[in-house]
Amino acid sequence: MIHPVIMAGGTGSRLWPLSRQLNPKQFLKLTDDHLSMLQLTVARLDGMESADPLLICNEEHRFLAAEQMRQAGYNDARIILEPCGRNTAPAIALAALQLAKATGDDCDDPLMLVLAADHLIQNVTAFQQGIQKAVPLAHQGKLVTFGIVPSHAETGYGYIQRGQELEQDSYGVDRFVEKPDLATAQDYLASGDYLWNSGMFMFGARQYLAELQKHRPEILAICQAAVDDADEDLHFTRINESIFAECPEDSIDYAVMEKTSNAAVVALDAGWSDIGSWSALWEVSEKDTNGNSFGGDVIAHDTESTLVRAESRLVATVGVKDLIIIETKDALLVAHKDKVQDVKKVVERIKGDG
Ligand code: GDD
Ligand code: MG
Repeated sequence: MIHPVIMAGGTGSRLWPLSRQLNPKQFLKLTDDHLSMLQLTVARLDGMESADPLLICNEEHRFLAAEQMRQAGYNDARIILEPCGRNTAPAIALAALQLAKATGDDCDDPLMLVLAADHLIQNVTAFQQGIQKAVPLAHQGKLVTFGIVPSHAETGYGYIQRGQELEQDSYGVDRFVEKPDLATAQDYLASGDYLWNSGMFMFGARQYLAELQKHRPEILAICQAAVDDADEDLHFTRINESIFAECPEDSIDYAVMEKTSNAAVVALDAGWSDIGSWSALWEVSEKDTNGNSFGGDVIAHDTESTLVRAESRLVATVGVKDLIIIETKDALLVAHKDKVQDVKKVVERIKGDG
């Protein structure tokens, strides 16, 4: 049985001003009129033989998360609440410990399918086929990731150097490099040997915990103490703040995937994209013949390759190209499409630390 674990604790600051601290991007309807990114993630599991998803998110989003899961048909799904974000290595450890506890020592290692709550996958059939290919590898004790053929030298992703072929579309991993610099990413792209890490994983819960014990034992020790002390009420598992606040911050990619010798990769061609920025959203949006994507009340004249979202007012554009314009009730973003990675700098300034 596969146990989907959905990581939904990110801040989505590059999608400001729509993505906000109290309503970050995984809870927004960005690519679909009816379903949020989280709900699309859950819907993608339909038809698979799997347990109810286990969600892990920040305490302050508990009502939003529970309500969206209820709307998606999962009234009883368990939600682990983190008092503060410590990135994905600890988040996945909390989920793995919870699953290991729930299944008991005598059972097989519960198989986790770790998913990000904010990806777009256009071909659900191909996605589910990829998951099935990962199952036997995970049963053999591999940490399986899903690799995407890279289209450009993106520095915001992890890169996987494919090793020996294990099964059809499955390979060993010779090297995993998280977020290389641009020159390195360009070399990797040119070599044709590398895949992007999609940020989705499959492995046994105890297997992951054993790897964490090997590479970052201090993270595991704190997560173990936090889970032992957690409060279980109704659908929520609340993690103790004074314990978890001491946990070092690290992502699974740096903490485990770069270090393990036990990784495998399943190549996935499923129309995957990480809606990491406004330009990424523009890329996957339906566009008119001038390459524009508009939402809300928009009048455009002589406008090209521009994304406009008008939430509360009429927005008009004249003689512009390659812009991102996001209008909300209390903030307006106007950015060049090539500079959208820096939107998070605005958020840092608003928070007073930029
Ligand atoms: N519960 C929880 N707690 N979830 C978190 C936390 C946390 O502290 N931090 C991040 N997440 C969630 C995010 O909401 C997202 O769904 C997922 O974990 C991945 O986090 P990101 O912060 O979006 O990671 P990234 O995009 O920089 O990098 C990862 O994904 C890339 C592909 O999109 C890495 O795995 C890269 O290697 C990969 O290429
Ligand atoms: Mg991401």
